[in-house]
Amino acid sequence: MDDHPSRKNLKIIVKPSQILSELNQIKKGLRNKTKEIAPKFFYDAKGSELFNKICETDAYYQTRTEMSLLHRRANDIGDLLGDNRIILEPGAGNMRKVRSLFKAVKPERYLGIDISKKEVVKSSHALAIDFPKILIFGIVGDFLLIDNDELSELIPDACSRSVFFPGSTLGNFSPDQAQEFLTQTGVFIGNGGIGIFGLDLVKSPKILNMAYNDPEGFTRDFNLNLLRRLNKEFGANFDLGAFKHEAIYREDKGRIEMHLVSSKRQVAILGGEVFEFYEGEKIHTENSYKYTKQSFESLARSCNFSLKAFFTDDREYFGIAVVTFQ
Ligand code: AVI
Repeated sequence: MDDHPSRKNLKIIVKPSQILSELNQIKKGLRNKTKEIAPKFFYDAKGSELFNKICETDAYYQTRTEMSLLHRRANDIGDLLGDNRIILEPGAGNMRKVRSLFKAVKPERYLGIDISKKEVVKSSHALAIDFPKILIFGIVGDFLLIDNDELSELIPDACSRSVFFPGSTLGNFSPDQAQEFLTQTGVFIGNGGIGIFGLDLVKSPKILNMAYNDPEGFTRDFNLNLLRRLNKEFGANFDLGAFKHEAIYREDKGRIEMHLVSSKRQVAILGGEVFEFYEGEKIHTENSYKYTKQSFESLARSCNFSLKAFFTDDREYFGIAVVTFQ
């Protein structure tokens, strides 16, 4: 379905809402012995707005560092992309980062997928204005649920393809999910296709813990917004004042873990089901894995990608890996 086709080079596609299946997924996670909610549910309009605020804090160095790295390395990445005609960006958010690439390469089409309709409409419209020669597809949906065939319908045959996956979103996947995602990416881009991945790198726990506990409290609000969303969209009755934000770097697992911790014994009703919480019980809301060049390269190799370049900033806080398939 097309909506807001206000410019010739812009198409907005809204994938059918999966509200019922979303509610079932959330309820299923809350029935587990260790309660969990998948991080993709953070991103309603309010969650996306809070995420953008996190990205501007001093503590969350990732966005700034990656943006300046992309800016500085745009021509090098552009050389590796060559005359690639399609760029797909899953989880595109505000579509700011791809702008650096467009300064160096001009693909024929850009496909940006994001779960937040507000973000897709606003950001793809702005891109279409600023880059009138690129055909922009703003796709509203869960990129993990949109299959390669659906995307291929939007691409002329025999176009070389690339996938741009910045922001260290790969870090929000478990090792198995990351492997599955890379495998699917390989199928989509095909032989010789290029993948560009932004990766938050392993570093001092102090810096990592600060990044997920910003003094402004945006990460806390972002985490708690999950419960606000369940109340608003699914008529749940979570008491927001009775859950606390927790984010901690687990060196043994190489990941930040985010939780919502129940500060008392309580019950909440979601979708007609009662969920009990004991004092101190946690809902696991996110993992954010940190990579090294070696750990990413070995993951990529196991999915038939080879590493062409790995760019980092002076402090080696963040990495951009460019890989080719097969
Ligand atoms: C989107 N993702 C890579 C962010 C991260 O750092 O894992 C989400 C986030 N969670 C808390 N702050 C930012």
